[in-house]
Amino acid sequence: MNQKYKEYKYLSISLNGAFMKISLLDKIKKGPKLTLGLDIGSHSIKLVELAKEKTSEEESCYTIRKVGRIILPEDTVVDGSIVVQDTLKDILITLIKNLKPKYRYASTSIAGYSVIVKKIGVPFIEEKEIEENLIIEAENYVPFEIEDVYVDFHVIGTSSDEKEKLHSEIFLVAAKKEVVDEYANVLQEVGLVPAVVDVDAFALGNAFEVSYGDPDEAVVLVDIGASKTNLNIVYHGTSLFTRDMAIGGNQLTEAISDELNISNKDAEILKIQGTKDQDVFNKVQNICKDIIQMWADEIKKAIDFYKKGNEDKEAYPQHVIISGGCALMNDLDKFLKKELNIDVQQFNPWKTIKLDEHINPDYLNSIAPQMVIATGLALRTVDS
Ligand SMILES: Nc1ncnc2c1ncn2[C@@H]1O[C@H](COP(=O)(O)OP(=O)(O)OP(=O)(O)O)[C@@H](O)[C@H]1O
Ligand SMILES: [Mg+2]
Repeated sequence: MNQKYKEYKYLSISLNGAFMKISLLDKIKKGPKLTLGLDIGSHSIKLVELAKEKTSEEESCYTIRKVGRIILPEDTVVDGSIVVQDTLKDILITLIKNLKPKYRYASTSIAGYSVIVKKIGVPFIEEKEIEENLIIEAENYVPFEIEDVYVDFHVIGTSSDEKEKLHSEIFLVAAKKEVVDEYANVLQEVGLVPAVVDVDAFALGNAFEVSYGDPDEAVVLVDIGASKTNLNIVYHGTSLFTRDMAIGGNQLTEAISDELNISNKDAEILKIQGTKDQDVFNKVQNICKDIIQMWADEIKKAIDFYKKGNEDKEAYPQHVIISGGCALMNDLDKFLKKELNIDVQQFNPWKTIKLDEHINPDYLNSIAPQMVIATGLALRTVDS
C-alpha cells in the first residue's frame, strides 16, 4: 500500500494553514515564497501578484503589486476543462506581457466535476497514518478510478460517538490527474512554473481569512462566475461545507440573447452596460429577475442542506459574502438579502491588503469582487 501511495509524487499535505492544496512541486530548500495567482475561468483570466513585507518583528502585511483580467474567447475553457489550449496560451502570454509580474511560480485552481471534496469520518487515526491509508479510504469515496486522481487530505478534528469511541474527521480531496496536468501544462508552456493547483472553494476561503480574519460565526462564501458558482461555508478557519453549482452569468446572457433575439456578444454588453432605452431596460430586468430568483433558491437549498447535517446551531451562518464577476451586478446583494433573509455583502478581498501606489484605486475597487479567487491563489506559497 505504501508502494502505491508513493506513486502520488506530486502530493504534499496542507502546507498553508487550514486549507489544503495539491502541490505540484517536490520539496526544495529555503523559506516560503508567494506565488502568482492565476484564476483561469471560463469567461476571463484573473491575475494577482502580492508582496509580503514585515511591518514589525512579528507582523507583516501584503501589498498588491500586479492585478488585471482579460476576457477569453467563448469556448476556450468549458466546464472547467481547457478546450482550446493555444488560444488560452496566447491570451495568458498577452496578460503576462501587459502586467509583467515578477514571480515565476504560479498557482491556479480547478472546480466542478473534476474535483471531489468530501468530509469523511473514520475511526480515530494518527495524522501520519492517514497518508498510508488514504488511498484505500479514497477508493470508497471517489467516483473515479483511483489511478486517475491526485488525492490530498486535511484533518478537521476528532470527535467521540455515544460509545465514546474516537473518530477523526477528514476532508478528502481527489482531483482528476488529466485536468490538473492540463492546467499545469499550460502554465509551463507560457514560461511559468506550476506550483499549486488549488480548489476554487479553498482559494475563496483563504482570501476570506486574510481580509476578514476569524470571525466568531460561520459565513457563507458564494463566488458567482460565468458558468458556475462555488459555495463554501467557513467557520473558525475551516471549511465546513462546499458545493459547486451550475449557475452563473452565462444564464443571464443567453436568456437576454434568446428573448431579445440578439447575439450573445450584444446581450453581454447590454447586461453589463445597460441601456438608455427604458423599454429594453425593463425587458432585461424582467429576464434577469427570474434567473436570479433561481440562484437565490439554489443558494438557500445549499445552506438548508448544510444546516440539516449540522446540529451545532452556533455554526449556522449569519452572513453571506458574494464574489465573482456577477457580484459586480447592481443590487445583487440587496436582492439576495431579501430572498435569503440573511445579511448579504460584497466580498472585498483587499480589506487588509495595501495597494501599490502605481495602481489606480478606483480601478481596483471596480473589479475587487471578481478578483477574490485570484487573491486567494496569490496567497499560496512554495518552499523554494
Ligand atoms: N459589471 C457586471 N455586471 C454584470 N455581470 C458582470 C459584470 N462584470 C462581469 N459580469 C459577468 O460575470 C461573469 C464572469 O465572472 P467571473 O470572471 O467570475 O467568471 P469566470 O471565473 O471566468 O467563470 P467560471 O468561474 O464560471 O468559469 C460573466 O458572466 C460576466 O458577464
Ligand atoms: Mg471563476
